[in-house]
Amino acid sequence: MTGNKPSSRPVDRYYSKVCCCLVGILLISSANLFFFLEHNKHLNGTTSEGGAVSEGPSTHMIDHGKTKRWNRAMVEAKEMLAAHGEEAECLHPKVQESKKLLKQFQGNRRPSKPYLNMGFPKCGSSTLFDFFACLGYRATHFTNNSLAGDFEGICMRDAVANGLRPLETCARGVDAILQMDVEYPLGIDGYFHKPFRDECFFPQFSLLEELHQEAPASTFLLTFRPIHDWITSISGWGSTVMLNRFQLCDFPNLPRGIPTDLGNKTQVVGQMTEFWCSHVQHVRNFVKEYPSHTLIETSLYDNLQSAQIMYGLFPTKVDANNTSEPITTELSNGCWGHSNENRPKQWLRRRKGKQGRNWLQKEQQRQQE
Ligand SMILES: *[C@@H]1O[C@H](CO)[C@@H](O)[C@H](O)[C@H]1NC(C)=O
Ligand SMILES: *[C@@H]1O[C@H](CO)[C@@H](O)[C@H](O)[C@H]1NC(C)=O
Ligand SMILES: *[C@@H]1O[C@H](CO)[C@@H](O)[C@H](O)[C@H]1NC(C)=O
Ligand SMILES: *[C@@H]1O[C@H](CO)[C@@H](O)[C@H](O)[C@H]1NC(C)=O
Repeated sequence: MTGNKPSSRPVDRYYSKVCCCLVGILLISSANLFFFLEHNKHLNGTTSEGGAVSEGPSTHMIDHGKTKRWNRAMVEAKEMLAAHGEEAECLHPKVQESKKLLKQFQGNRRPSKPYLNMGFPKCGSSTLFDFFACLGYRATHFTNNSLAGDFEGICMRDAVANGLRPLETCARGVDAILQMDVEYPLGIDGYFHKPFRDECFFPQFSLLEELHQEAPASTFLLTFRPIHDWITSISGWGSTVMLNRFQLCDFPNLPRGIPTDLGNKTQVVGQMTEFWCSHVQHVRNFVKEYPSHTLIETSLYDNLQSAQIMYGLFPTKVDANNTSEPITTELSNGCWGHSNENRPKQWLRRRKGKQGRNWLQKEQQRQQE
């Protein structure tokens, strides 16, 4: 290019050199500033009060305020549990709030799709799947999503890591996604028998921001069960106990290696309770921040009340042509809670004794308030 201007005077050349220099300095310093800011952002995230922030796949993605939200939720969980123990509100569903939704969604109004189960595994995801599938919604659960061709959650993780939209990529056309989480850490022979791949990922922990960006009015479902019962349940399930797998997973609110001593019940209960509580805080805070979402909280053990809420919010059967018809008595007997019949009784029998009864009583009292 410069060869086209053989006539440029020495003074001009001098100025253009100075200009080039200045532009160069400007570019270098702004690049430095950028890296400085990025670096500081990272430091702020890892050194704030909440302590352990995991180096899971989510940290390789754009932060979108994730670190700040998680730190807040973890601090809140610690404080709540210290102050209120098992009475802490993060351990119990806000059923009254869900009942208020019944007034909000009347007539033909429904909570917006997609319906995303934000809860933990072993906490009613099959009940939710049965419910939505029974009512004719296109529902998926864990592995059985032909579009994902894999675990839904792993598909979403990889989609986001590659700049793709998780729902469109992994669950196009799906109305209700009822188990996104996968908990097969590296080295564990998982469902698809890939022990050399880390398949431990919870979109409901790590992709709230991306799911929100893609579906800003989506509906979040959060099912609760008494915390001790949940811990008992994850301590004895499947070929590899789920709790052992959680220990090997790296979650934003449960770094790899925690709980450290699986034989120490006090520690396991303490740390898993905090894990639960911080997740609930994280979801509740997120919905407060973005009230375009609807959050439906229910209790797994109160079938009657949960059925009332769910049928109230989803009162019709839908079909592939997007027409809907009122639920018949036959359906309303069959769609909700089938997989959890008599659960409280079974649970009591398993837990035996006074402690179990006290738990159930408290849970029932709380729901009547
Ligand atoms: C999906 O999985 C659920 C249980 O996880 C099962 O009941 C259902 O039949 C499966 N559906 C398909 C289409 O594979
Ligand atoms: C079990 O864990 C608790 C809480 O972390 C700790 O205080 C206690 O010393 C531990 N007990 C044993 C036997 O290691
Ligand atoms: C949807 O509509 C088409 C065309 O009217 C019809 O053939 C089909 O049976 C309908 N499907 C359902 C599930 O109602
Ligand atoms: C289905 O119907 C609802 C309400 O009538 C409407 O809002 C929605 O856009 C429809 N969806 C499709 C895919 O046609």
